[in-house]
Amino acid sequence: MEKEHIIVGNWKMYKTEQETVEFLQTLAPLVAAVNARVYLAVPFTSIPTAVKVTEKTNIVIGAQNMNDATKGAFTGEIAGIMLKASGAEFVILGHSERRELFKEDDDFINRKVIRALKDDLQPILCIGETLDERELGKTEEVLARQLQKGLKKVSMEDVEKIIIAYEPVWAIGTGKTATPELAQEAHRFIRQTLGTLFSGKESKISLLYGGSVKPDNAALLLSQKDINGALVGGASLDPKSFADIINAC
Ligand code: 13P
Repeated sequence: MEKEHIIVGNWKMYKTEQETVEFLQTLAPLVAAVNARVYLAVPFTSIPTAVKVTEKTNIVIGAQNMNDATKGAFTGEIAGIMLKASGAEFVILGHSERRELFKEDDDFINRKVIRALKDDLQPILCIGETLDERELGKTEEVLARQLQKGLKKVSMEDVEKIIIAYEPVWAIGTGKTATPELAQEAHRFIRQTLGTLFSGKESKISLLYGGSVKPDNAALLLSQKDINGALVGGASLDPKSFADIINAC
């Protein structure tokens, strides 16, 4: 059975609350009739407003990160229950920018995945190799480790709720998209690995490709067998280009 595509925008640290409203008012009519699930991960400060503005639309609002604790003396951090109370429905975890710039490791990311599930937020777990790792022939080893550690202690029942995003680090924000063949091969490996970790569930888990997805390369990437959607950074900041990617489904 064909899975419905999921297109997720990740705004990173862009857009004020006012800019969020203007963006959503433009985007909503452009994607009202699409045959895909539309997710948007906005900055924390925009979540409540974005939820309100998208109330009668097919756009789902989420967050870009959270802590694994429910409360405590963690200056600057945010808890899953706070995101949930603000109306967020999903959360991106383990993005390579969090792993690289903020030194998040697989164990910490795993604790966040477990917490997000408990807090009824759908986790989007990001994995992907660096250029060095790819050139050293370590891509599969890295992906397998990130999956195995990131999904540790996730139950057979819960694993279906999780979305996996494959984002090769060398393709993020660089304009260097993975070729559809290379992306498909990585997704095939990810699905196979999920099969060894959660036998029988691998076909139920949505796999997204991320890394320089643009309106002109989206259709070919999305037509690959094991690619169920896209995680879009830069091109999700403009309502027209984000809508064009969604309409490529
Ligand atoms: P770009 O689409 O800007 O390459 O970013 C990808 C990304 O990091 C999405 O999470």
